[in-house]
Amino acid sequence: MVNTRVELKGLSLRNPVLTASGTFGYGEEFADFVDFSKIGGIIVKGTTIHHREGNPYPRMAETPSGMLNAVGLQNKGAAYFAEHIYPRIANMDTNVLVNVSGSTIEDYVACAEVIQSLDNIPAIELNVSCPNVKQGGMAFGVTTEGISKVVEAVRKVYHKHLMVKLSPNVTSIADIAKAAEASGADSVSLINTLMGMAIDAEKRRPKLSTITGGLSGACVKPVALRMVWQVSKAVQIPIIGLGGISSAEDAIEFLLAGASAIEIGTANFIDPSISQKVAAGIEDYCERHGFASVSELTGALITD
Ligand SMILES: Cc1cc2nc3c(=O)[nH]c(=O)nc-3n(C[C@H](O)[C@H](O)[C@H](O)COP(=O)(O)O)c2cc1C
Repeated sequence: MVNTRVELKGLSLRNPVLTASGTFGYGEEFADFVDFSKIGGIIVKGTTIHHREGNPYPRMAETPSGMLNAVGLQNKGAAYFAEHIYPRIANMDTNVLVNVSGSTIEDYVACAEVIQSLDNIPAIELNVSCPNVKQGGMAFGVTTEGISKVVEAVRKVYHKHLMVKLSPNVTSIADIAKAAEASGADSVSLINTLMGMAIDAEKRRPKLSTITGGLSGACVKPVALRMVWQVSKAVQIPIIGLGGISSAEDAIEFLLAGASAIEIGTANFIDPSISQKVAAGIEDYCERHGFASVSELTGALITD
């Protein structure tokens, strides 16, 4: 029997597999495909204090081995989530985390306070890395000063597990991760999408209404893996790795590079039951390689 549990401060996962924000709705949409009791948790759509319409269409474009999106944090706001959506998903048989986004520090703080009041949400993932909004979002996540200010402010009011989601659109992700840790983050998740662009040459037009968007899927995996590795050398807090994970083997690579848990994003669109399959595949790998516990995989990469 492999011990698959992952213990993070104030957040106990039955296994290291989470679903990534914006790619799994509120979970309900996947109920026919995933047995929630077989995964570590779900992270719901980016939630902001106020209702957001998101960006105009078109806001998705396929790329070789991936996709570009510019959804722009469409959601009905934190109060609507608390009143209408939370009651439906609060008793799901897995951890439900909320991805908290904002345009100003005050927005982040207010949203974190609303989510904190919901008993069955043990953690938030602070999205300081969304490339698809004009104000805030990624702007906070690309400088050490920006990330420190927003994490410190949220830390003052939020007392459960605070996961901070990092942007890959930076020069030194290790420095950004260190700033998040010093400001009170309990863990960091990485990566959010990479800034990209697609053009329809026949029409001489960009494929996205916003011209640029966020690249995700299998094509980003080597970049994400490299960043998880670099961050694991820079911080003591746990790392949640993501970016292009589409199989158990991919997930194990992130664990070996230093992640304690992983998230699955774009791959949910290709195979809606992938999260459950990855969880089973990680357990199988541990059995085959003689690991008694999944946590032994974290940072177990051999480099000499
Ligand atoms: C359609 C779409 C919507 C997304 N929405 C959010 C979001 O609301 N908040 C967030 O932090 N990340 C969001 N992301 C980023 C993913 O959570 C993830 O960080 C990224 O896609 C990389 O992982 P992947 O390659 O496994 O998809 C979104 C990604 C996609 C494709």
